[in-house]
Parts: sequence; C-alpha cells; structure tokens
Amino acid sequence: MKRALKILGYTAAVFVLLAGISAAYVSIRGIPGYEVKMTPEIATLQVPRDSALVEQGAKIASILCNECHLGEGGKLTGKVMSEVPKLFGTIISRNITHDPEVGIGNWTDGELYYFLRTGIRQDGSWAPPFMPKFSRVADEDLYAIIAWLRSDDPRLAPDRREYPPAEYNFLVKVLANTMFFPPALPEKPILVPDTTDKIALGKYLADGLYECFACHSGDMLKVDPNIPADSYGYYGGGIEMQNQEGEIVRSANITMDMETGIGAWTERQFIDAVKYGKNPRGGTLQYPMTPRPVLTDTEVSAIFAFLKTVPVQHHQVERYQPKITSR
Ligand code: HEC
Ligand code: HEC
Repeated sequence: MKRALKILGYTAAVFVLLAGISAAYVSIRGIPGYEVKMTPEIATLQVPRDSALVEQGAKIASILCNECHLGEGGKLTGKVMSEVPKLFGTIISRNITHDPEVGIGNWTDGELYYFLRTGIRQDGSWAPPFMPKFSRVADEDLYAIIAWLRSDDPRLAPDRREYPPAEYNFLVKVLANTMFFPPALPEKPILVPDTTDKIALGKYLADGLYECFACHSGDMLKVDPNIPADSYGYYGGGIEMQNQEGEIVRSANITMDMETGIGAWTERQFIDAVKYGKNPRGGTLQYPMTPRPVLTDTEVSAIFAFLKTVPVQHHQVERYQPKITSR
C-alpha cells in the first residue's frame, strides 16, 4: 500500500514537472509559424479586376471582413476587438488598406489567396483563430474578395494608421500549439453550386461561405472546420458569446425542432431574421447575430431549405433576456 502511494506520488510529481516543461515550451514558442507551400498556380494567380467580381467581393466582405477590420476612421485600418474576452489577451486586427507598408498594398493576389485559405503569411507567421481561415469558400468567391481588396473602395485607400500587434495570452498559445492548425489547401478547385440546386446552394452559403454552422454548433472547440456536419451539436446552438455590452448571448438552435428550434417558423420569418435581425418573438436579435441585408431572399430561402435537411436536435438553449430597466 505504502509503495503504491509512493509510486502514485512520483507519477504525480513527474506529471507536474512535465506540465511545467510544456508550459514553458508553449510560452517560449508562442504562436507557431509554418512553412509557406504555395503551388505554382497560386504563386502566379492574377485575379481579374472586373466590376461584377468587385461587387460580389464587396458584398461578401460586408458580412465576412468589415466587422473586424473597419477601424474608427471608417477605413479598413484594423481595430482592437474589444468584444473578445480578456482571457485570450488583447486581440487586434490589422490594416488591410492599400498602404504598402502597414497595409497589404505590396501583397500579390497569390499571397492574399494563400493567406485567406491558410492564415499563413509570406514570412511563415501564422494568424491565430481570431482571423478566420476561408478553407471551404469557392475559388470564385475568394477571387471576388481579392478583387474587392484591390478595388477603389474608399475604405481601402492607403491609410497609415496602425495598431501594435495583438497580444495573445497563454491560453491562445496553448490552443495554437495543440488544437488549431492551418487548414490544408483544397485538393481541387471549389465550385459555387449551381443556383438552381436550392439545397446545395443553401449548404454552401451556410457551411462554406458564411459559416453559420461555426456559431450555431454546440461547442466552439468542437467545431469541425473540415467536415462542418461533424461539428458537435451541428446547428443545435448553445455556444456562449457576448454582445457589445459584454452580456452573454447564446447562439440559437436553428434546426427544425418544433419546440426548441425553428421548426414552426415560416420562411418569411426566417428571411426577416437573417436579413434584418427581426426576432419573431418581438424586438431584434442580439449581437453577434448581426443583420445581413445584402443577402438576397433567394439566398436566405436556400439556407432555409438546406436547414430543413439537417438532423433535428431537441436542445433547449437559454435565450438572452433583455434587462428590464426600471425608471
Ligand atoms: C473575427 C475577426 C476577423 C474577421 C471576420 C476577419 N479578420 Fe482578417 N484579421 C483578424 C485579426 C485578429 C488579424 C491579425 C492576426 C494576427 O495577429 O496575426 C487579421 C489579419 C488579416 C490579414 C493579415 C494582414 C497583415 O498585415 O498581416 C489580412 C490580409 C486579413 N486579415 C484580411 C481579411 C479579410 C479579407 C477578411 C474577410 C474575408 C477578414 N480578414 C476577416 C480578424 C478578422
Ligand atoms: C458570430 C456568430 C453567428 C453567426 C456567424 C451566425 N449566427 Fe445566427 N445567431 C447567433 C446568435 C448568438 C444568435 C442568438 C441571438 C439572440 O438570442 O438574440 C443567433 C440567432 C439566429 C437566428 C434566430 C433564431 C431564434 O430562435 O431566434 C437565426 C434564424 C439565425 N441566427 C440564423 C443564422 C444564419 C442563417 C447564419 C448564417 C448566414 C447565422 N445565423 C450566422 C450567432 C451567429
């Protein structure tokens, strides 16, 4: 018995020591870098600057980029992302204006493509999870984003405003060393589905382009970026987020469960919720469920049709309760 206790004691000591060594390793190593492995096609990529592509890119960016990169002066100079819990450190997005030094004026189309897919910059440094990686977005839509980044949108005009780099805390460093890695480049080109195939289009918009699943799954750390449908609690919601006042807002169950999901909603209610943030129970949906007015009714209706094919989850999510302010 005594001996067993001793062994247990030694084992515990070894664990503590190992944990200490790994902690030291992680803090010294910080956010890991990666080898840049561009294919020749990516390295020489030149995206056409046609206006239809720029327009499509501007639309996508209004949903996918501006919120994080639009600075105080109304330009895409980056900002301190104050809504990210302090637990992760001070997260600061970057200047993506045309300025050649502090912005991305000197990046080639290929470098942008490679970075948007993987998060890896040309110097091998890697952007941690706060900068999303667009690994399932169709090539055409990624080209649209790049065409827009190159466009004469006044918010992208060269601007020298710059923040200090983000300060990532120990937790982010641990996650970036153990759980989050750059996604692999797609093996073959990703095509935008035929718009006549409503369900395929809805699936692409919800799982591929606009990442509805990432917020609407059950656990941020169990989201599967490669196979969205394998994410824990896929579309069953419940992830804890914060609104701009720092209050907890949980993502909603948007499977078709009649009681706990949106099974009883009409398509019109769904469209009004997604496009204009209208909550059918009254009032508006909370941040970070921001309105997406640039989506067309056809697109949102396709997402609705796709959600009808997702396995139903009976999962009651505790809803955000607006504070009743008494006067
Ligand atoms: C959730 C917030 C968020 C969203 C959404 C987002 N970004 Fe970022 N972005 C960041 C952060 C944070 C960084 C800095 C990462 C770092 O510290 O390495 C960054 C870095 C970048 C960089 C690297 C700039 C440099 O000088 O290294 C580019 C380019 C970029 N983002 C473009 C985009 C584009 C284009 C979109 C939309 C398709 C987008 N981002 C969407 C947060 C975001
Ligand atoms: C940044 C995270 C995030 C993203 C991305 C996101 N949502 Fe949400 N969504 C939420 C949160 C949080 C709520 C709950 C808001 C509330 O309680 O007021 C919500 C609520 C909803 C609701 C209302 C459900 C209800 O029961 O009230 C619908 C519908 C919805 N989202 C659809 C979508 C669709 C479709 C997409 C993709 C185009 C999407 N969401 C993308 C976070 C997100």
